[in-house]
Amino acid sequence: MSVSVLVDKEKISDIVKNVSDKINNDYNEEYILLGVLSGSVLFFSDLAKNLTGDLKFDFIKLSSYGDEKTSSGNVKVIRDLVMDVNNKNILVVEDIVDTGYTVNFLVEYLKNKGAKSVKFVTLLSKPSRREVTVDVDYTGLEIEDKFVVGYGLDYAEKYRNLPYIGILND
Ligand code: IMP
Ligand code: MG
Repeated sequence: MSVSVLVDKEKISDIVKNVSDKINNDYNEEYILLGVLSGSVLFFSDLAKNLTGDLKFDFIKLSSYGDEKTSSGNVKVIRDLVMDVNNKNILVVEDIVDTGYTVNFLVEYLKNKGAKSVKFVTLLSKPSRREVTVDVDYTGLEIEDKFVVGYGLDYAEKYRNLPYIGILND
């Protein structure tokens, strides 16, 4: 399999800067920056360095994929977050919003734990793939229906280390 570059390092920095400016403008209360493992880690760390607000870090690991390229729609918590989110503002950091099942699941999950507000920032979004309607507050870049890897995104746990986002060709 080969990877062709879709979004290079420079473009990723521009996206991160753009999105973090908006977040810094919007948040004037304390919030928890909640990274969805493992795909969001590189975006999370670049984003966090540009955030100026009063925030804490936590992480959650979910699964719906297995080693396939399409979501099963059956989202499960594999590693739970550690902080008590009751009455807290949560900003969830996602690598990509595809079918929308993950975002949908997290809104319910965090609201059930008493979160005061739940917002989402995603590096990438594939709007044409939505199976459920979801509200994403900050989107770095919308892309077409291609399977992408790199900058945290994987195929069967590989390619996460690439410093750019690329299309995975068979
Ligand atoms: P959703 O629940 O279908 O919206 O999928 C969200 C998750 O699917 C993301 O957090 C990714 O882990 C994974 N995903 C969706 N599309 C891609 C892709 O093109 N490359 C790698 N992972 C993807
Ligand atoms: Mg993911």
